[in-house]
Amino acid sequence: MKFFSTLSSCVACGLLASQVAAQTFQRLGACPKLGCIFPPDQADFLPGQWFDIRLEVHAPQNGSERVSYAQPDGNFTFTIGRDGQRAVPATQFFNLTEPRLETWNFTWYEDLFARAARTPSLVRVAGKAYRKVALYEPGNYVATLTYQNGSSTVANWTVRDIPTQRRAKNTIIFIGDGMTTNMITAARLMAHQMINGKYQTTMAMDQMPVLGHQMTHSLDSFITDSANSASALYTGHKSTVNALSVYRDSSPSNFDDPKVETIAELFREIYGGGVGIVSTAFIADATPAALTAHTSQRGRYGEVVDSFLRGITNYTWVNWTGPDVLFGGGAEQFYPNSRSFQGRDYYQEFRNAGYNVVLNNTSLQTASNSSKTLGIFSVSNMAKWLDRNIYKNNLNISRTAPNGGNGSATDQPGLKEMTLKALQILRARNPQNGFFLMSEAASVDKMMHVLDYDRALTELLELDDTIKATINYLRSVGELNNTQIIITADHGHGFDVMGSVDTRYLAQQTGDRNKRNAIGIYEESGLSQYVVPNASMPIGSDQNVVYSQGVNFPTNFDPRYTFYQGVAAFPDHREDYTVNKRGPRVPALNITGFSSTDYYVNYIDAVTGFVINGSLPVAADQGVHSLTDVPVFSQGPCQADFGGVYNSIDVFYKMAGCLGLSRRTPPRP
Ligand SMILES: *[C@@H]1O[C@H](CO)[C@@H](O)[C@H](O)[C@H]1NC(C)=O
Ligand SMILES: *[C@@H]1O[C@H](CO)[C@@H](O)[C@H](O)[C@H]1NC(C)=O
Ligand SMILES: *[C@@H]1O[C@H](CO)[C@@H](O)[C@H](O)[C@H]1NC(C)=O
Ligand SMILES: *[C@@H]1O[C@H](CO)[C@@H](O)[C@H](O)[C@H]1NC(C)=O
Ligand SMILES: *[C@@H]1O[C@H](CO)[C@@H](O)[C@H](O)[C@H]1NC(C)=O
Ligand SMILES: *[C@@H]1O[C@H](CO)[C@@H](O)[C@H](O)[C@H]1NC(C)=O
Ligand SMILES: *[C@@H]1O[C@H](CO)[C@@H](O)[C@H](O)[C@H]1NC(C)=O
Ligand SMILES: *[C@@H]1O[C@H](CO)[C@@H](O)[C@H](O)[C@H]1NC(C)=O
Ligand SMILES: *[C@@H]1O[C@H](CO)[C@@H](O)[C@H](O)[C@H]1NC(C)=O
Ligand SMILES: *[C@@H]1O[C@H](CO)[C@@H](O)[C@H](O)[C@H]1NC(C)=O
Ligand SMILES: *[C@@H]1O[C@H](CO)[C@@H](O)[C@H](O)[C@H]1NC(C)=O
Ligand SMILES: *[C@@H]1O[C@H](CO)[C@@H](O)[C@H](O)[C@H]1NC(C)=O
Ligand SMILES: [Zn+2]
Repeated sequence: MKFFSTLSSCVACGLLASQVAAQTFQRLGACPKLGCIFPPDQADFLPGQWFDIRLEVHAPQNGSERVSYAQPDGNFTFTIGRDGQRAVPATQFFNLTEPRLETWNFTWYEDLFARAARTPSLVRVAGKAYRKVALYEPGNYVATLTYQNGSSTVANWTVRDIPTQRRAKNTIIFIGDGMTTNMITAARLMAHQMINGKYQTTMAMDQMPVLGHQMTHSLDSFITDSANSASALYTGHKSTVNALSVYRDSSPSNFDDPKVETIAELFREIYGGGVGIVSTAFIADATPAALTAHTSQRGRYGEVVDSFLRGITNYTWVNWTGPDVLFGGGAEQFYPNSRSFQGRDYYQEFRNAGYNVVLNNTSLQTASNSSKTLGIFSVSNMAKWLDRNIYKNNLNISRTAPNGGNGSATDQPGLKEMTLKALQILRARNPQNGFFLMSEAASVDKMMHVLDYDRALTELLELDDTIKATINYLRSVGELNNTQIIITADHGHGFDVMGSVDTRYLAQQTGDRNKRNAIGIYEESGLSQYVVPNASMPIGSDQNVVYSQGVNFPTNFDPRYTFYQGVAAFPDHREDYTVNKRGPRVPALNITGFSSTDYYVNYIDAVTGFVINGSLPVAADQGVHSLTDVPVFSQGPCQADFGGVYNSIDVFYKMAGCLGLSRRTPPRP
């Protein structure tokens, strides 16, 4: 989720470059001068990975970078040379014909004053795109764009020396969207019993043999969104907020941006292996989308769904024939309506392509394992674990049924059911070639955004339960030692637990300052009340209260003493620290009669609580992503590769290396 327009942004421009690095607005991210090369300086590549090159030459017509000429000179040259070798024109290097010259204009705001005054700077552009090229020889390459009578922009590229040997048959990457170490700590405290400071059980994640940390920064901003972080994890290339497996260019089209081949495309192309995509979000959302979509605008949901089925159709690209498994929510892009691509019936489009289509848990369970399968279980994001399992009345929301009718989606599978079924199908269809599965616990992030910590943490526990079930399944079918398992996140939220709250005391105080005295810090934080069974139910005596390693959920979601928890950045909101029994929270509202982008505390949320004045811009109705490094847990043939501290793109190179996806010679045409 994002709230602020990032369409216009700005770089260190012209003479000001050295003084104003890293500012909010950039002319075009990762374009250091008036000449731009994408992939930009510092880009890394997997040997043999397909990518596009975009060149742009900018002629700002006004604003601080204004040039004296009205058009950028279209006569620019572009050369590539390997370290120590003579650079040659890219056309010769890649054996391509010279691409046609394109021209367009764009505008951007140089700073907040320009935005407030609505005085954008106008830039005229000449550009070219070289489509579907690859570098096979590991080493350093220098790409040089020469323009405007001798100005030049240089990009140093590195093709990593990644061995071609395949070490894992299968790869599963679990993504806890927005999941941080702090959240794992809180979820563990919520669901695992501790005696005198020692846990009696721990999470499945805790039992992973190897832990690493990855840095999530974007190409052009230090806070990422889920589109560009997913692109980094799947392609090994950093990108821009909202971009899915492309570098964002400045042209008006959302689909002509330079693409980079993803791990799913590589795996399919090189081995013909199985691909599974599972998410509790609407399936066109960024984390699933970045595996097959290539667009600078993640909001193009209809096209994203088309890309799952057909890949990229309008620019030359890899031959994609659809994943073996696609499970999630987001029915609004499938039944025929204004939000499906060209108003088409995508259930029918998938059926026409040979897919079995299932719309509820019952049908999912009985579906054949031999067919490609599309499972869409609700409109929008799927229901949360807490609503599916504890507050079940919340499933009765009209018009959530996946068939597009007036009904509600009451028979939804959870992440565990979807993931286990995906594994069965992937195995049945790919006994020799193996599979790549991405399984996303999307609502860790979505519930953190709306400050609904109970839902966020139970989504995290469901992910942990799914990981445990996956390991047990793989072991039972003899595939555990063939499968590289990775559990990571795409970014964090500034969440932590700082103590406990006596919610009964809080509710009975009058006045916000008095209510705050219900918070217990340090020694008054006490112990977690979520897992302690009530007095008549000793530990382990009841079927529902069996503490087993790595599979726990709390036994009580509404204890008197709850966590004093929160995020570091938020809109105006109230807190009473109790579970929201009526469904996910709405912390802030825009109010009739005021600007629609001016959000205030929601007075029907957490009514017994106190007001916390927002710290974010008033246009934000929810919390936002944060800077923290995120954990990477691993188990499998390449587990040791994932230890240490590294960049998000390294997750791609480690996965690709483990699968042996580096290609040292061009594939046969
Ligand atoms: C284009 O640029 C090249 C190299 O800078 C130069 O040799 C050539 O004369 C230019 N062509 C035109 C039409 O300006
Ligand atoms: C370059 O491309 C042309 C046309 O596609 C082809 O005939 C030729 O063999 C290629 N040359 C090399 C060196 O790949
Ligand atoms: C770009 O802007 C100029 C004005 O500076 C205008 O004359 C031209 O038509 C515009 N071109 C495009 C492609 O919009
Ligand atoms: C630049 O030109 C455009 C188009 O004429 C105009 O809308 C804009 O306000 C100008 N910006 C500045 C900073 O002068
Ligand atoms: C490039 O240099 C030539 C010769 O000096 C000049 O005629 C032309 O206007 C220059 N072009 C640009 C875009 O500066
Ligand atoms: C790029 O490579 C060139 C030549 O190898 C080198 O001189 C230059 O410093 C490098 N630039 C960066 C930013 O790494
Ligand atoms: C492909 O191009 C056609 C024609 O321009 C357009 O109608 C269609 O929306 C494009 N498809 C996608 C998936 O972008
Ligand atoms: C794409 O793959 C399909 C299935 O493997 C094959 O039938 C088709 O010929 C391929 N198309 C191209 C253009 O390679
Ligand atoms: C599940 O889907 C099947 C097939 O579409 C349908 O016949 C059945 O009624 C559905 N069950 C529920 C509980 O919605
Ligand atoms: C889905 O169906 C299976 C088989 O009936 C059942 O075990 C499981 O609990 C169901 N899952 C949900 C979330 O309803
Ligand atoms: C996994 O175990 C099976 C059976 O024990 C064995 O055949 C296979 O070689 C093992 N694979 C790896 C990657 O160790
Ligand atoms: C609140 O914002 C949304 C999204 O911009 C808008 O659709 C809605 O009309 C606004 N409501 C009010 C009361 O301003
Ligand atoms: Zn995310």
